[in-house]
Amino acid sequence: MPDALGPDVTTPIAPAPAPDRIEGAVHDSRRHESAHKHVSGEAVYVDDIAEPAGLLHVYLGLSSRAHARIRSIDLSPVRQAPGVVGVFTADDVPGVNDIGCMAKHDEPLFASTLVQHVGQPIFAVAAETRDQARRAARLAVIEYEDLPAVLTIAAARDGERTLVTAPMTLQVGDAGAALAAAPHRVEGRLAIGGQEHFYLESQIAMAVPGEDGELLIHVSTQHPTEVQHIVAHVLDLPGAAVTVEVRRMGGGFGGKETQSNLFAACTALVARRTGRAAKLRPDRDDDFQITGKRHDFEIDYRVGFDGSGLIQGVEMLFAARAGYAADLSGPVTDRALFHADNGYFYPAARLESLPLKTNTVSNTAFRGFGGPQGMVAAERVIDEIAFALGKDPLEVRKRNFYGSDPETDGRNLTPYHQTVTDNILPELVAQLEETSGYWQRREDIRAFNATSRILRKGLALTPVKFGISFTATHYNQAGALVHVYTDGSIQLNHGGTEMGQGLHTKVAQVVAEEFQVDISTIRPTATNTGKVPNTSATAASSGADLNGKAAQAAARTIKERLVAFAAENWNVAPDAVRFERNRVLVGDREMSFADLVRAAYMARVQLSATGFYKTPKIHWDRAAGRGTPFYYFAYGAACAEVTVDTLTGEYVVDRVDILHDCGRSLNPAIDKGQIEGGFVQGMGWLTMEELWWDAQGRLRTHAPSTYKIPACSDRPRIFNVALLENAPNREDSIFRSKAVGEPPFMLGMSVFHALSDAVASVAGHRVCPRLDAPATPERVLACMTALRERDGCEREGRERVAASPQP
Ligand code: MTE
Ligand code: MOS
Repeated sequence: MPDALGPDVTTPIAPAPAPDRIEGAVHDSRRHESAHKHVSGEAVYVDDIAEPAGLLHVYLGLSSRAHARIRSIDLSPVRQAPGVVGVFTADDVPGVNDIGCMAKHDEPLFASTLVQHVGQPIFAVAAETRDQARRAARLAVIEYEDLPAVLTIAAARDGERTLVTAPMTLQVGDAGAALAAAPHRVEGRLAIGGQEHFYLESQIAMAVPGEDGELLIHVSTQHPTEVQHIVAHVLDLPGAAVTVEVRRMGGGFGGKETQSNLFAACTALVARRTGRAAKLRPDRDDDFQITGKRHDFEIDYRVGFDGSGLIQGVEMLFAARAGYAADLSGPVTDRALFHADNGYFYPAARLESLPLKTNTVSNTAFRGFGGPQGMVAAERVIDEIAFALGKDPLEVRKRNFYGSDPETDGRNLTPYHQTVTDNILPELVAQLEETSGYWQRREDIRAFNATSRILRKGLALTPVKFGISFTATHYNQAGALVHVYTDGSIQLNHGGTEMGQGLHTKVAQVVAEEFQVDISTIRPTATNTGKVPNTSATAASSGADLNGKAAQAAARTIKERLVAFAAENWNVAPDAVRFERNRVLVGDREMSFADLVRAAYMARVQLSATGFYKTPKIHWDRAAGRGTPFYYFAYGAACAEVTVDTLTGEYVVDRVDILHDCGRSLNPAIDKGQIEGGFVQGMGWLTMEELWWDAQGRLRTHAPSTYKIPACSDRPRIFNVALLENAPNREDSIFRSKAVGEPPFMLGMSVFHALSDAVASVAGHRVCPRLDAPATPERVLACMTALRERDGCEREGRERVAASPQP
């Protein structure tokens, strides 16, 4: 049988499978089902699909203004350009001119009278070649009447404070009273930059028209069902006429949760109007300008604490640049509040969000989904306490951890009134403290810094606690469809999408385990809304949790039928039917899995089943700010050491040690990849990735020439990554594993804090550096200069930002 999954490559961290085990069982390290195709170039992405005859190429005409009324549009030069077949505007939309995910209708497919950010689509042009479409799109003559543009968080706060969606408040205890009563208080403000997703495969969609208005859409999206809905409502078609298919993405990172709607809707519109297939792939520069990014935040914090560093009360206000429309800004800023505690117990807290409307691209999901910004704020608060009391930040961190046992500790209530019952941070951090040699290296670094004239070292160990589940409770459901064919091969379809994270591999392992057949028997297929309907986005790290359980349910249904058939056919008790290593034992008879399947088929047993799963126990009341939004928490910690050049602000990451909790990992090799990748992406966000808009609201860092993501040479010189052992999920998750997609992103905070530690050394650790993110070499240098003047870098930092051309 040809092997869809290819030969296995045993990774060094995996023990060889025991001889009595199937290949690719759960908990085994197994390489990604497409790894060999990724490296050989055989993996088919949307742009690799053979183009149907007559395919048109689509390109977008974009706004050059941040906020303006459109006085007139002359598209005749576009229409007359070589190869152009059609030009489409809001007037050509048969259904609703809206692609927003929130039913707010605040995100037009094409702007018609008002543009609200530079790069907003105004029209689409379809031509015979992609180059013709690109060139034609620039020929439109558009007259604008500029309106005042609100570009920054600061400007949005000063002005009318328009919000894109309702803010949220979380409250526990009386924070005001706790702060007033605390022996010590500190307050400050932290600015955290946004982040471009920089998926290697840019946004892309191809629509193929069928009969009776039917459309098949190939699109790089994390959310096929939402694309189906959006296309149906833009074109005024029933959902049943639209099929969306995704074999894989070349990375999504949250940037294809809603941002793919636009591209899919454009190609669908062209296909519907022309009867020809249509494809749209923006250039990287345009992708940068058209699509939303991670939200940047300004966070105001006040903390009250005692002389031992124990927190008594916290107040935080999370102001975020949401961009011009709601998109996911509500849930993203909510998740910032849900993680403003990171791993720490706040006896009293008041946390508020402020999702501010600005004339910039509408910001969206990005790995961590607001959680990282909340956690950076928590870690800043810890740093402030440490500096105020002259303690090591790690000591303050440990002092404030949630309790391990809610019964006895009484320190387990979160600001959203969920009790943390699975806290393992104290043990996990203790283990990493030991394996990383934190305290010895703290001494070594102190000694190094005392004598080093130019280079300074910094060290930090930061924890991660991340809530697993969509906070929109209805999203926590999944479906699967499993077919067993008469040769014993198995086709697996589920609602999750593959973006490189290894979801299809993990779910295939689950099905292999259930049937006790080698994973090469299982063929994962493209995600297709016609096979599994009404799916949730593959997001919130819950792809394997949800779809693994749904696929398991489908497999168990078929298995139960096979057992019942075998028991009856061979006249044995059902528990005498056992599936073991590609064989089935029926009493003292033994047969291959395929033989049993064939016999069952002949007896007219149904060999196909759907499966369904919904996460138990969770609920959330946003208005009340109370509930159990998370099924469980994923934990981790990282210890980073950096060296900073005090003359230039440049730095290197010398060493990083990570200990991460994947529960009983479904696949340690893939999880290790997620941890390494997530860490580097998080480190990039907090150190080198800087988005820069000019005073006209134009993004000037719109290509790899100006927007720097970590390169191979930026990785830690020494990089030790370990999975926490003997730590099964305490909840009944899929084989007791834990979600791993997003949590390791926040391990990157360790580098940010190590930089802060190195910077603080220039002023004898007497002043909290209050470094803003990203801590680019420029910002590190400015901060050290300010600290040397014993001035604190906050004042200097703000003045610098105020004086800079950044609006
Ligand atoms: N890993 C790769 N290689 N590519 C990606 O795009 N996205 C991340 C994470 N890991 C991503 C990734 C994000 S934002 C999420 S939410 C999860 O994968 C989604 O997949 P999962 O739920 O199956 O973990
Ligand atoms: Mo991930 S930001 O939830 O797609």
